[in-house]
Amino acid sequence: MDLKLTKKIVLVSGASKGLGYAAAMQFAKEGTILFINSRDDIKLEKAARLIREATKTEVIPMAGDITLPGTVSAIMEEIRKRFGKLDILVCNAGGPPSGSFESFTDEQWTSAINLSFMSQVRLIREALPLLRKSDTPSVVTLTSVSVKQPIENLILSNSVRAATAALTKTLAIELGGENIRFNSIMPGWTKTERVQELLGHRVQQNNSSLEEELRKQSAAIPLKRLGEPEEFANALVFLASPAASYITGLMLTVDGGFYRGTA
Ligand SMILES: NC(=O)c1ccc[n+]([C@@H]2O[C@H](COP(=O)([O-])OP(=O)(O)OC[C@H]3O[C@@H](n4cnc5c(N)ncnc54)[C@H](OP(=O)(O)O)[C@@H]3O)[C@@H](O)[C@H]2O)c1
Repeated sequence: MDLKLTKKIVLVSGASKGLGYAAAMQFAKEGTILFINSRDDIKLEKAARLIREATKTEVIPMAGDITLPGTVSAIMEEIRKRFGKLDILVCNAGGPPSGSFESFTDEQWTSAINLSFMSQVRLIREALPLLRKSDTPSVVTLTSVSVKQPIENLILSNSVRAATAALTKTLAIELGGENIRFNSIMPGWTKTERVQELLGHRVQQNNSSLEEELRKQSAAIPLKRLGEPEEFANALVFLASPAASYITGLMLTVDGGFYRGTA
């Protein structure tokens, strides 16, 4: 299938590693022109170099903390100056820490909201003028399967990502008349550094080993394994692409069947 992504202008935030990096690499393989972002400029430069070497496409790293309004404005200004439009926006960043309800302060709640919700609000708001210049505008937000089925000991993520899902669906309705598509990907347990950290906490809590926690988590997934970042990226790139032109407002789980509901 032709995803019709050649020369499309794409921005992926939170893309130096993990799911964001896998998505960026897959977009580059499809011949897009890529802007990538994350905080650590050395790691981001390295990610850009690896993607360029693997795909021979143009990759422009824009380092900065996506929770800061100044970072978002600077990225959009650079895209505007160089290309005058944005075809695809992928809103991603790291996730909030694990813990139970009574372990978190107001400051930690505010910081989770800023990281996983307000960063996406600002990215989308600032990107809209550039998306309106595209003939195939599309936005994908990264949330989590925890929106559909809360994950134990992840109350910050479970709660805040539900707001992002609602934001995505509302924008699909509000801006559908302008042909701007909004979808969300809800990853399940996928092999990244963040998941290693989360399982590391369980090792401490349960006085077990990483192998044991991995075995227990895999057993709870119908496909009996964690996902690969590339499997997640394949779904995301299709959903964002013009090939998915009649799909908007979709909350797509990519979770090996982890979510047990029927809706
Ligand atoms: N992996 C999974 O199984 C899974 C499942 C459900 C949901 N998710 C969610 O999907 C998202 C990506 O997960 P992941 O596993 O790929 O995480 P990850 O391995 O921790 O990677 C996060 C990426 O975002 C960047 N980042 C973090 N904070 C940022 C900020 N404030 N501004 C700009 N960039 C920032 C990181 O680079 P720097 O540190 O250099 O900034 C890194 O490139 C997270 O929100 C996560 O909670 C993941």
